[in-house]
Amino acid sequence: MSFRQNHLLGIEQLAPDEITTLLDLSDEYVTLNRSAEKHGDALNGLTQINMFFENSTRTQASFELAGKRLGADVMNMAMQASSIKKGETLIDTAMTLNAMHPDLLVVRHPHSGAVDLLSQKVNCAVLNAGDGRHEHPTQALLDALTIRRTKGRLHRLNIAICGDIAHSRVARSNMLLLHKMENRIRLIGPPTLVPSAFAELGCEVYENMEEGLKDVDVVMMLRLQKERMDGGFIPSEREYYHLYGLDAEKLAHAKEDAIVMHPGPMNRGVEIDGSIADDINRSVIQDQVEMGVAVRMAAMDLLARNLRARRAAAADAA
Ligand code: CP
Repeated sequence: MSFRQNHLLGIEQLAPDEITTLLDLSDEYVTLNRSAEKHGDALNGLTQINMFFENSTRTQASFELAGKRLGADVMNMAMQASSIKKGETLIDTAMTLNAMHPDLLVVRHPHSGAVDLLSQKVNCAVLNAGDGRHEHPTQALLDALTIRRTKGRLHRLNIAICGDIAHSRVARSNMLLLHKMENRIRLIGPPTLVPSAFAELGCEVYENMEEGLKDVDVVMMLRLQKERMDGGFIPSEREYYHLYGLDAEKLAHAKEDAIVMHPGPMNRGVEIDGSIADDINRSVIQDQVEMGVAVRMAAMDLLARNLRARRAAAADAA
């Protein structure tokens, strides 16, 4: 097994062989999840705490399901009702939970770097479920699994990431992962949402959607992250949809067998036409959700193996 991490904080820390290990194990969990019983024992006896300081549907539900399917005791902290509301700091809250001996801590936080900081204060495995604009590693991994299973490979593909790149942790994690796996990445959107500096990361930048989509294998759409915008980044949603919303006319510029992806939550009629999102011949959006459970099972399984090995080594040395 080649997975050497103590935490899953970002794609930045992962080597290509670790990404492959994680995706190979995820494939096994897809099979398990499609079976009648759906239960494994990789996390038996372990405690998983989910701390979501931002709203979530997909990520929180799939982490909870993943933990339960592998036998962990799973607790969802109701952060809106926690002592954070009384002025307790993130670190004090984390230290308090750490004293209860969790093994896996899953954290979503609005500030970039908060999850990394927290991982330095606790003695369990920490998984980043999205921190500010920084990273959303399990989203990029589930996207990679979806692409690999649909296209039969995860290298030398032309992949377009479209829309609000500037505010998106999903885009950043995907750029890092797809670049490590040697794909060609195009970023498409208005200059206000696609900083040209991203060209330095080895991506091609397009302002025109039709030009950018020409002959791509994968079209990845992104939501306008209004909660992270502090000014007028687009003239209007109507104008944005006209120029950058994915409809049949624009999709016709991509390869005939190009797939359409979206991490969700989706704004129909803003970044994507509803009929494209629901087209079972092109859209893999529901597959992405399915892959999310398997990827989170694999990530927690691999981190738990390393955690148990570290603890066994420490016990031997004592
Ligand atoms: N893609 C994603 O992170 O969705 P949620 O915000 O619903 O978790």
